[in-house]
Amino acid sequence: MHAVRLHEYGGLDTLRPEEAPDPVVPPGWVLVELRAAALNWHDCLVRRGQYPAPLPLVPGADGAGVRRDTGEDVVIVPSLWWGDRDAAPGPRFEILGDRVDGTYAELVAVPEENVLPKPAQLSWEEAAALPLAGVTAHRALFGRGGLRPGERVLILGAGGGVATFLVAFAHRAGARITVTSSSQGGIDGAVALGATAGVSYRDAGWPQAAREANDGEGFDLVIDPVGQWADALSTLRPGGRVVSFGANAAEQAEIAIRPFYFGQFDIRGTTMGSHRDFAAMLGLIDRMPDWRPVVGTVLPLDRAADAHRLLEDGGHRGKVVLTTR
Ligand SMILES: NC(=O)c1ccc[n+]([C@@H]2O[C@H](COP(=O)([O-])OP(=O)(O)OC[C@H]3O[C@@H](n4cnc5c(N)ncnc54)[C@H](OP(=O)(O)O)[C@@H]3O)[C@@H](O)[C@H]2O)c1
Repeated sequence: MHAVRLHEYGGLDTLRPEEAPDPVVPPGWVLVELRAAALNWHDCLVRRGQYPAPLPLVPGADGAGVRRDTGEDVVIVPSLWWGDRDAAPGPRFEILGDRVDGTYAELVAVPEENVLPKPAQLSWEEAAALPLAGVTAHRALFGRGGLRPGERVLILGAGGGVATFLVAFAHRAGARITVTSSSQGGIDGAVALGATAGVSYRDAGWPQAAREANDGEGFDLVIDPVGQWADALSTLRPGGRVVSFGANAAEQAEIAIRPFYFGQFDIRGTTMGSHRDFAAMLGLIDRMPDWRPVVGTVLPLDRAADAHRLLEDGGHRGKVVLTTR
């Protein structure tokens, strides 16, 4: 098969297009003929060697294609060996493309539980863009966030890849959404997806501005992909909750303990999601026939290095997708 593989970790030139052996398919696994793969920031960390594995390795967590044994159109669930507990992944949990060959290839082998039907309304590129960001957003909002119709939710960093899924899913679930962003474009994009209002997190008083934009009310739920716990807590109404799954703005947080417990607050961690979370997300998407993931750039598989450069340069909007045809 044709694939992009890493023979060493490092810069963009380590992403080498080449012929590679077809994947071995153990019992209980299935082979998927990939039509498209999509990038996540996590792929850059894999390429740089943050998750060391025996090389060569095909990176890539996200993909969509045709299951060879049944001919079904499928999307790949990128969480391997989540296990039986919904509360948290088990000890064997890892992401496809970290140590097991991933989706930058014409073929990928995955456990059977890691393929689910492709939403019919999505193109191959859109379906490939869905898995990691989509399941992360769905579990953050519903599995961990417990979002209910009519609740008021604040989503931090609206311009981010995962945030576009958060806004669309929360809107469909009947939430009233406020966002923060560094740019008016980020706010406008979120409003187009269903948010009611947005404020700039570059303004020091943004937590108060966010409450004012929410009719002066605190939020039931704040989704924090960036690591702003103290500010996030300050925007909650009593009994509210923060869901955290990223730390690109800060790795550490300092919070005042007394207001935390008097406020009856929760801070909940989440990461990606199980195949059960994924199936629940597909159920939601079924009820969103007009929705599409935002695909920003489509490149042929062999240009994986250019695709990584786009992510590392920043400022792109929408998912970066590689096609195998
Ligand atoms: N744990 C998991 O399973 C998991 C899965 C996926 C992603 N993540 C993490 O989630 C985060 C977002 O991922 P992504 O793929 O959406 O990344 P991304 O596309 O690079 O988006 C990051 C966004 O964060 C916002 N941001 C940056 N600094 C901020 C700040 N100081 N305050 C508020 N917002 C800020 C920006 O929003 P604006 O453009 O609007 O300014 C930016 O667009 C990353 O930290 C990523 O590692 C975790």
